[in-house]
Amino acid sequence: MLREPEARDRTTFIELLASPEVHTYLGGPRPRDELEREMPEVPERWPGSFVVELDGTMIGQILLRRAAGHRRPAAVGKADLGYLFLPKAWGQGYAAEACAAALDWFDGVLPGEPVVLTTQSANVASMRLAAKLGFTEVERFQAWDAEQWLGLRPPAT
Ligand SMILES: CC(C)(COP(=O)(O)OP(=O)(O)OC[C@H]1O[C@@H](n2cnc3c(N)ncnc32)[C@H](O)[C@@H]1OP(=O)(O)O)[C@@H](O)C(=O)NCCC(=O)NCCS
Repeated sequence: MLREPEARDRTTFIELLASPEVHTYLGGPRPRDELEREMPEVPERWPGSFVVELDGTMIGQILLRRAAGHRRPAAVGKADLGYLFLPKAWGQGYAAEACAAALDWFDGVLPGEPVVLTTQSANVASMRLAAKLGFTEVERFQAWDAEQWLGLRPPAT
């Protein structure tokens, strides 16, 4: 299920953002004590910020936001998809199902808009997920000491 973030998700947000495993291809995790101090009691809510819930428990997060300051011109101003799931939930199709649902929502509220996605090309699971969701390669570029893949999902027809 996709829903808005709530106060009861705070611990899981900290777990996600402090996990070295989750951040293997994302420049490393944030220190847990810093997150405990700085994470608001109720996470900020805005259209495009989803908690993914399975059997009443948060297992991941999906973000769709405007890439206003994106470093690649092809992505500037476009909606950008990001996803983080807890390792215990990996490999069971949840990310594919949840991201497809978030993209369906996006197609409904902003029809005719493309979506971009950036991921390290070494992140095999994320690359596979991007392909499954209909993203195709725009370009590869070097940033944050690694090769990055910029993909684009054309507007739904
Ligand atoms: C990327 C991530 C969301 C994938 O989640 P997931 O729930 O395992 O994905 P799914 O089970 O829906 O699988 C999607 C596809 O990726 C493949 N896949 C998943 N893990 C894989 C792995 N370790 N190696 C190769 N392929 C993998 C699946 O087989 C599936 O493809 P298929 O249907 O053709 O078999 C998850 O690994 C994650 O949260 N990683 C850490 C955060 C991250 O790196 N995010 C990317 C930021 S852009």
